[in-house]
Amino acid sequence: MYKSPSHLPESARKAVADTLNERLADGLDLHSQIKVAHWNIKGPGFAGLHPLFETFAIGLAAHNDTIAERAVTLGARAYGTARHVAGRSKIPEYPQETTRDLEHVKLLAERIEQYLDGVRESRKIAEAQGDTDTVDLFTTVVTEFEKHAWFLRASLES
Ligand SMILES: [Fe+2]
Repeated sequence: MYKSPSHLPESARKAVADTLNERLADGLDLHSQIKVAHWNIKGPGFAGLHPLFETFAIGLAAHNDTIAERAVTLGARAYGTARHVAGRSKIPEYPQETTRDLEHVKLLAERIEQYLDGVRESRKIAEAQGDTDTVDLFTTVVTEFEKHAWFLRASLES
């Protein structure tokens, strides 16, 4: 661990940085999946969903960056190559042959919910280590991505 401006003990900084790196792997994987959906979607919902998926990707890219930089601020490293992510992500692989609009909506809703489960777990770890700043960071992610999950689930209602 590097020196850090944080006042937390090294053991706490390490525990929080480890969980930040888990969420970074999930987030980078999910970002690539959202882009695949953005590129390949077809059907009557295209006009609304194509740009909606892009807003998800832009938001997630910003969160991934914040999560990575928080890990380094705490004195750790941030791991994020495609090969590293492929080995670590807890998000299931995306069926890339999918084209139908509502099928993409369902697949992304499920994956965003899985991503959120991980973020909530990581927030608990940050809470247990007394790192309220990382808790706040994760809460921002949860608030934004729960809203995205709601958009997707609402699109699936008949
Ligand atoms: Fe695009």
